Amino acid sequence: MTKSIAEQRKGNMASNRAMDVQAELRFWDRALGEIDERPDLEHRHDPNKWEALLPNLIKNLLPRYPITSGETPTIIDVGCGPLSSLAGVQMEMMTLIGIDPLRNEFAKILRKYSLVDNCLMLQAGAEDTEQLRVFANTGDLVWMCNALDHTIDPFKTFENLKMMTKPGGDLLISTHENEADRGNMHGMHKINIFEKDDQLWCSVRDEVAQELPTNGFHVMDITSTMRKEFGQRNIVAHYRKLQPLEAK
Ligand SMILES: C[S@@+](CC[C@H](N)C(=O)[O-])C[C@H]1O[C@@H](n2cnc3c(N)ncnc32)[C@H](O)[C@@H]1O
Repeated sequence: MTKSIAEQRKGNMASNRAMDVQAELRFWDRALGEIDERPDLEHRHDPNKWEALLPNLIKNLLPRYPITSGETPTIIDVGCGPLSSLAGVQMEMMTLIGIDPLRNEFAKILRKYSLVDNCLMLQAGAEDTEQLRVFANTGDLVWMCNALDHTIDPFKTFENLKMMTKPGGDLLISTHENEADRGNMHGMHKINIFEKDDQLWCSVRDEVAQELPTNGFHVMDITSTMRKEFGQRNIVAHYRKLQPLEAK
């Protein structure tokens, strides 16, 4: 029987999770310490820079979501890092919830540099179904950026992302292609993600690749673009959850 990606990952790990977590925290400690010199991060604490950097896809999707009884659309950023990339001046347009297993450690680093959280934050891993169930069917947009390859179990993660998406809502995954191989399994990058036949696939080293199941969702678009700044392809997968009648 084919081993699950989570089992493959465990068997293939070049280091342990605690060390990988430390590597991730060191990366963010350095990055947040230099935030004023990093145009790629500046918009996370300077709302005036946000509009220019907001990915067009998300900007175009926001008007789709109905504003009911004064409530703004709910955007859930899973694996959001210390400062969500979606926060900023447009906060009045949405309720932004950030979820990250390192949230408490990130809070310490933010304090060190006198930075503050830019959204409502919850400490949880994307695999933690019990904790995330409270958000079942609530996300007009569920967004995971550069974090699926960091998880312990991308399949469980994908199921939870699907669970949190509202019927008719959107799920967006942005990821670098084959990040684990490219970084030689460094830090939290342990899973390769790639696109084949209009689906996302996961693999660990040379073990059997497995396709993320899209049941209950339309695959709207999977685009991959060569990003010169990273010397690597970036993949954006856009799914839309079926309404109950469509799902039958
Ligand atoms: C490269 S950072 C990306 C952060 C942010 N999304 C961005 O685009 O800047 C990867 C993030 O994945 C988070 N992560 C690691 N394991 C995770 C898991 N099991 N579930 C959800 N997020 C996880 C890390 O804590 C880290 O914040």
